[in-house]
Amino acid sequence: MSQELVTVANALVARGKGILAADESFPTIAKRFKSIGLESTEEYRRDYRHMLFTAPDFSQYVSGVILFDETLRQKAADGKRLADILADQGVIPGIKVDAGAKPLAGFEGETVTEGLDGLRGRLAEYRELGAKFAKWRAVINIGEGLPTRFALEANAHALARYAALCQEAGIVPIVEPEVLMDGNHDLARCQAVTEEILVLVFAQLKAHNVLLEGMLLKPNMVISGKGAADRAGAEEVAKETVATLKRCVPSAVPGIVFLSGGQSSVEATEHLDLMNKLGDLPWALSFSYGRALQEDALKAWQGQSGNVATAQAVFRHRAKMNGVAATGGYSSQLENAS
Ligand code: 13P
Repeated sequence: MSQELVTVANALVARGKGILAADESFPTIAKRFKSIGLESTEEYRRDYRHMLFTAPDFSQYVSGVILFDETLRQKAADGKRLADILADQGVIPGIKVDAGAKPLAGFEGETVTEGLDGLRGRLAEYRELGAKFAKWRAVINIGEGLPTRFALEANAHALARYAALCQEAGIVPIVEPEVLMDGNHDLARCQAVTEEILVLVFAQLKAHNVLLEGMLLKPNMVISGKGAADRAGAEEVAKETVATLKRCVPSAVPGIVFLSGGQSSVEATEHLDLMNKLGDLPWALSFSYGRALQEDALKAWQGQSGNVATAQAVFRHRAKMNGVAATGGYSSQLENAS
């Protein structure tokens, strides 16, 4: 069992590859579709994801895809399961297993992620359905007096319980503590909070006997708040993010795959590239982007079957740029050339 976990975790961060997060919940995908004036129906969700998963050659840059429950069970118009379409191209299917961040009672403005009850049974079923890895996202909000230590501890504890249950089921856990970009805070504040949650998360993972070699970390980058007056530049984001991760993440962890969290597509690629250009890293540094991989393709698609080929080319380009950034080989010439 542990050898399989290690093999899958390493395959997910194979050189030049990263993860596509396509696990938007019903409310989130409805929001994304609304941006192109499309209603969120089961058929549109299926066709949209089918468009992404059949993009020519995308498996050169994408090692795995995180799916939502509906998608893992869904069949394409021709009757083939979407998860099998991925697996047949060597792309590993994964599953989001948390039930969302819910208000933490007694702690105004903070959340704790739910979904532990019954998780053991759900994981067994997901494994039957072909999922080899999973995701659980904890959400940390920066604000006046926030986050509290208590909320950080509650989220770290839940992440570790989830990770232990995944490994028991033979599923690689992606552990995602996301410090949100929302707010006016500066980069130093994001740095301090990111370091605090990462230290707590790894202490809990250790306490819960989680095999570090058989998991991946999915963190935010250390970045200024969206509304900050003087936002830090890309070089500083890269340097501070790597410095923070080096302090907190044991080298036994095979890979760190970032979320994009509201960065623009190109920004997310540039940041990843700069970090890899720094070199001397004890783990693979790659991507597990949702919006930054899909935004351009979604706009090109518009819900029209006639736009599928164009949207796929746009998606493939974004995946390629991030695959290249995961090796530190990205440049603006490449961005504009292909
Ligand atoms: P974003 O890259 O859009 O932040 O999504 C990644 C993700 O899976 C968040 O849980």
